[in-house]
This record gives sequence, C-alpha cells and structure tokens, in this order.
Amino acid sequence: MSIRVLAIGGSLRQGSFNHLLLRQAQRQAPEGMVIDIADLSDIPLYNGDVQAQGFPAAVQRVAAQVAQADALLIATPEYNYSISGVLKNAIDWLSRVPGTPFQGKPVAITSASMSGLGGARAQYHLRQVLVYLDVHPLNKPELFISAAHEKFNAQGELTDAASRAGLDALLAALAARAAQLQLREPVAEAA
Ligand SMILES: Cc1cc2nc3c(=O)[nH]c(=O)nc-3n(C[C@H](O)[C@H](O)[C@H](O)COP(=O)(O)O)c2cc1C
Repeated sequence: MSIRVLAIGGSLRQGSFNHLLLRQAQRQAPEGMVIDIADLSDIPLYNGDVQAQGFPAAVQRVAAQVAQADALLIATPEYNYSISGVLKNAIDWLSRVPGTPFQGKPVAITSASMSGLGGARAQYHLRQVLVYLDVHPLNKPELFISAAHEKFNAQGELTDAASRAGLDALLAALAARAAQLQLREPVAEAA
C-alpha cells in the first residue's frame, strides 16, 4: 500500500533542525511511503480581509497538498514554550479553507530543539491546536530531538542512533495508522 505523506515544518530558517528532521524522514521513509515537504515561506500573515478577497495562492497550494496527502508529519520548533508563529499562521489559514483539508488525516508530531526537552512543550500545544482540525494525531511514539545541534552532522544528517530509531518508529506508526484508516469501511451515517 502506498502512503503519501505531507511534511510540514514550522521553521523557515536555513539550517533549521526541524527541516533537517523532515529531510531525514524522507531518507528513512519505510517502503511504500513517499514524503513531500510543504513550503510555508510564501504564506502571508492571516488576515480576514485578505481571505474575503480570496485565499492567497500559497494557501491554496498547501491546502491542496494537505487534501491529497494520506497522512501528515509535523515538525515544530519550540518558541517561548509553544509552536512557532509560522506553523500556527499556516494552520490558521488552512483551517479556513472550505472542504476542511485536515479532517480525518493521521498526523505524526515531532520537534527538534537545542534544549534538553527537545520541544516537548510545543508538541503539547500543537496537540491542543489540532483538536479543532479533527485529525487523528498519533499519541505514541513521541519523538523529541533534544540537543539537536549535537545530533546532526555537517551534511544535515541525523547521526544520533536513538533519534534515528525513534524516527523509524514514528514513521512506521504513521504508516500503520494511515493503512488502518484507508482500509476502514465507511461508517453509515446515523439516520
Ligand atoms: C523566539 C524564540 C523562542 C524560543 N523559545 C524556545 C523555547 O521556549 N524552548 C526551547 O526549547 N527552545 C526555544 N528556542 C530555541 C529554538 O527551539 C531553537 O532555536 C531551534 O533550533 C529552532 O528550530 P529550528 O532549528 O527548526 O529553526 C527559541 C528560539 C526563538 C527564536
């Protein structure tokens, strides 16, 4: 069974550890899983007046990618104990797009930070935000890349064995959940 995953990273900076983590996920993707990385860099700040004129092209592009994906992988930085504004802004825009592109998607969550907690607080904030989007977040395994500056080499590869194993486990769990949801018989609407 093939699984198309859209990866969403919450940092725009060159050399972002969260972006490197998504690139690493592409390299470690299990057989049958293809991971594309969304580009959030041209999404403007959310403004209801802009929305009233029509959704910006960048928002429409990412919304279509979300809609077409079987599953999502989100890597968020931790900014002041929460998710980055970049990620929240993108989610806010996408949540307004008709057709609710996120609804029912399995979502794996991870984070990378130079701190010892690896962005744990941001992940729990992200889980709260995802409630309204009606996704299927994986509860486990959890993957926090702490001391991220020590775990990637100069080529941007994740070299820490435990982190690589954790990423394998996260992607395997995402594949299993996506397959489970694809196979599930549609539930008849209650009369
Ligand atoms: C505005 C700002 C706030 C931050 N707040 C936190 C924080 O609360 N917890 C934490 O672990 N790291 C914090 N950091 C450090 C980031 O997690 C670290 O810079 C990380 O590398 C950012 O992700 P990136 O490498 O994907 O860009 C903060 C960084 C910035 C710029």
